[in-house]
Amino acid sequence: MSNERTVKWGIMGPGGISGNFASELRHAPGAELVAVAGRSKDKADAFAAKYNVPRSYGSCEELANDPDVEIVYIGTLHPIHKENALTLLRGGKSILCEKPFTMTQAEAREIAREARRRNLFAMEAMWTRYLPVIRQVKEWLRGGAIGEVKLLKAEFGFDAGWNPEGRLLNKEKGGGTLLDAGIYPVSFASFVYGQRPSRILSTAVIGETGVDEQYSALFEYPGGQVASLHGGVRLPMNNDAWIYGTKGKIHVPNFLAAKEATLYAGGEEPVVIRDDRTFVGHALQAVEAMNCLREGRKESAEMPLDETVELMGTLDEIRGQWGLTYPGE
Ligand SMILES: NC(=O)c1ccc[n+]([C@@H]2O[C@H](COP(=O)([O-])OP(=O)(O)OC[C@H]3O[C@@H](n4cnc5c(N)ncnc54)[C@H](OP(=O)(O)O)[C@@H]3O)[C@@H](O)[C@H]2O)c1
Repeated sequence: MSNERTVKWGIMGPGGISGNFASELRHAPGAELVAVAGRSKDKADAFAAKYNVPRSYGSCEELANDPDVEIVYIGTLHPIHKENALTLLRGGKSILCEKPFTMTQAEAREIAREARRRNLFAMEAMWTRYLPVIRQVKEWLRGGAIGEVKLLKAEFGFDAGWNPEGRLLNKEKGGGTLLDAGIYPVSFASFVYGQRPSRILSTAVIGETGVDEQYSALFEYPGGQVASLHGGVRLPMNNDAWIYGTKGKIHVPNFLAAKEATLYAGGEEPVVIRDDRTFVGHALQAVEAMNCLREGRKESAEMPLDETVELMGTLDEIRGQWGLTYPGE
């Protein structure tokens, strides 16, 4: 049946998160991983051997020319996302591209334009949106369970250690908190309020390598609602989200990878929901992408391209307040 047909995947970038994605695909029914590519054939070969991938290539172009591949997961570093995405779209491949989708809003616009021009599916891999707990939070919000939302507090921070050459602190590699951990609270604010903030006030700790090791941002929305967001790559945090409304509140521990949420509505007993999944959850975004492909949808309603482009604009604006630019900007 067409709704259950197999979807053949490729992976671009034989690195850390791609390995995780390759392992997770077994939790996405109907997914078949058929090819992997990297900038070096040796690394692609090693990845293929480790994850049992039938074909491996030493360039993105070769993957784009593989007629068997329908959709490619892009797991390279963010400075190369745009180039990879455009190469793959031009080869007729749909794409699921890691967050941040690109380095800038202008780059995100280019990809969205190319995908639409070629009538191909494209989606930012903001996996949080497809977690069952987060889908339930959306139901609560849309159903007015906590009344009118007035305040969101969200944070994501961890200590990656001191490694100036590693991708998190190295500017050439797109390092910094905002484009890595920091995008999760910003994307969650967009999820909760469904719009871009009308005013942003932000500050960051710029470290020795010239990237933001820590940031805080206060968003104001046209109705006076507020989001207070924080992130760090050298500062462990609780990683919780709290959403406060006129009639209650919602708590989501470790919101980006949520397995639990609690609804406190009025004076009623708190409602706790739990997800007992045994895998990380990245497979669920693949399930969404495959459902879209099977149904002929070119975008995910949970993470549409226009929202991704707006989000990148918000990130540009935040960085603009700190004066942080990346090579080539
Ligand atoms: N959703 C999540 O939970 C999550 C978690 C972690 C990371 N991410 C995102 O995933 C992306 C990759 O992160 P990672 O931790 O997997 O990094 P990683 O382990 O360093 O892997 C990065 C990959 O990109 C490749 N690459 C780097 N520069 C390239 C270039 N110029 N041309 C072609 N390929 C290039 C690397 O190739 P070589 O092997 O040849 O060096 C490597 O295969 C980032 O955008 C990050 O934000 C998402």
